[in-house]
Amino acid sequence: MTDRLESREKVTGAARYAYEYPLENAAHAAAVQSTVAKGEITAVDADAALRIPGVLAVLSCENAPHLHEVPDGELALFQSRTVAYRGQFVAAVVAETLDIAREAARHVRVHYVSEPFDVRLAVDDPRLYKPDKVNPAFPTDTEQGDPEGAFAGSAVRVDATYTTPAEHNNPMEPHATAARWNADGTLTLYDSTQGASPTQETIARVFGLDRTHVRVVAPHVGGGFGSKGTPRPSVVLAAMAAGAVGRPVKFAVPRQQMFATTGYRTPTIQRFRLGADADGTLNSIVHEVFEQSSTVTEFAEQTAVATRVMYRAADRRTSHRLARLDVPTPSWMRAPGETPGMFALESAMDELAYAAGVDPVELRIRNDTDREPESGLPFSSRNLVACLREGADRFGWEHRDPAPGARREGDKLVGTGVAASTYPAYMRPNKASARADADGTFTVRIAAADIGTGARTALALIAAEALKADADRVTVEIGDSALPQATVAGGSAGTASWGTAVVRACEALRGKMNGSVPPEGLEASADTADEIRARDEYARHAFGAQFAEVEVDADTGEVRVRRMLGVFAAGRIINPKAARSQFVGGMTMGIGMALMEESVMDPRYGDYVNRDLAQYHVPACADVRDIDAVWVEESDPHLNPMGSKGIGEIGIVGAAAAVANAVHHATGVRVRDLPITPARLL
Ligand code: MOS
Repeated sequence: MTDRLESREKVTGAARYAYEYPLENAAHAAAVQSTVAKGEITAVDADAALRIPGVLAVLSCENAPHLHEVPDGELALFQSRTVAYRGQFVAAVVAETLDIAREAARHVRVHYVSEPFDVRLAVDDPRLYKPDKVNPAFPTDTEQGDPEGAFAGSAVRVDATYTTPAEHNNPMEPHATAARWNADGTLTLYDSTQGASPTQETIARVFGLDRTHVRVVAPHVGGGFGSKGTPRPSVVLAAMAAGAVGRPVKFAVPRQQMFATTGYRTPTIQRFRLGADADGTLNSIVHEVFEQSSTVTEFAEQTAVATRVMYRAADRRTSHRLARLDVPTPSWMRAPGETPGMFALESAMDELAYAAGVDPVELRIRNDTDREPESGLPFSSRNLVACLREGADRFGWEHRDPAPGARREGDKLVGTGVAASTYPAYMRPNKASARADADGTFTVRIAAADIGTGARTALALIAAEALKADADRVTVEIGDSALPQATVAGGSAGTASWGTAVVRACEALRGKMNGSVPPEGLEASADTADEIRARDEYARHAFGAQFAEVEVDADTGEVRVRRMLGVFAAGRIINPKAARSQFVGGMTMGIGMALMEESVMDPRYGDYVNRDLAQYHVPACADVRDIDAVWVEESDPHLNPMGSKGIGEIGIVGAAAAVANAVHHATGVRVRDLPITPARLL
């Protein structure tokens, strides 16, 4: 149980976030968003804005510098007159103060020729196509055996369509960048990012610089949930603006502008067909996904990929179809793919449990597998059944009357539900260094990111163990691209990937130390690329089981989650205190997904209407009453030197299905379209 190393800095306000860096002579930027969903910019009239005292520049397609390369279409800021979605950045004002910049932005007149647009995702959309791969590089479709035939011949069948809405990542700290061009032509970015090294790499390409001529500094980041996993147009805006005015420029995306410019989870339409024997043993699994991307960039979420991992069945098929609509580009949001996909699969499994008359926990145990169903690979470890049993025991599942709508307490209908969780245990190559000083202290360096997860603390614990030193003698330096190159805090792969490089650097250092340290100190470094490439082939995934109890007001249809328990099998847990917080945080986000979160598309304007946390609802403390996460012991020698799997995302996976299944148990109403609002229940 280790407190976060930076906790005092954070609660006293000493921890510095991107916008807070005191840059000398800094100017401030504010962005102008398009008011049409599709069209061409005919003119940008900046005169009125430029007349306001304190305004330094107005940037737009009419005067923006040419960007060297745009690895992601969203980064092609002000590079053309074409508007691809409503809310796209079309101009920026740079001014002496933030207030002047924001006021002047209101006076920039952008003239458009607007065109008809299409923002509605539908299974009959003629724009639907089969992308080459789904995020990040999975096959788009898979098929084994004769799934349709096996389904038709099955004694028990479920054929149901589920939908999940667009959902927007809303980290507490908005996306913010403070950019400074230095006298030697290099660029320094204080940036709210999940990856200093990847942002360095991308922004260097955008501005045609050598990678080493960009430095990205991000020691503290106030959340991201994937939305800061790749640089957004806001980073380009700050750097471009700083170049234009010859001064440092700060730009923070206001919450109101985040809904169009910093990514979101694609809405999905998912048809499931499950065919089983009378005892619930699966024969056939068919998962068909329909989702959206923008016209600027293809982002194809891997929604059906978890279905390839979960349950045994000889005949099976998964597919993804994508429509490029006139909308902002979706991106990563906590467990992209697994989260919406497992809502559908685990809802369908609950429907199958009722159709077959088998207990939902038992149904999942009955369809467990010791080989990854589609690859045939052995699992490095798979303890789904242990999680289900442990959870059922702790939650008091055995006393459950399976009949829907059977439990009433006053005007509340009460029910319980279960769902499985899974998330891959990814590993990526990283570099790290470790240094010993003569005073007995150690310094470990790696450009890792702590986005609020406790990564810095986990790495300190990992380093101390590898050095056989007390943790208070180890300093970990992260969050700066000047440190050894590191991968993104994403895919729940941070601790496993960075930690392996840290262990290897510490081992190399111990080899050099040989018992003593010279006055000038000793240093060693590591690169894990070869080690990761040489690993044996296993299917590596974490698993879990989520249990929820809900009460539904019989008159109003309001749903409350009374209690929720998650049991996870995720290898060795490095820091129990921070791990519990990750699991519970994910589960809380799952409650939000089940009951509240919904970005609403206005088809008249072609825009998500949500603009703030009053309109985009996430759970507050009163919505989360009794929530707990525990884990089963799991020793897996095929992972990494720590024996750990990622834990940042699995907590949300399956959580919404557990709640939805509990709502069905309480009421007898199966809601297949999230979120479960009173209107959908009554
Ligand atoms: Mo996470 S959505 O992979 O940052």
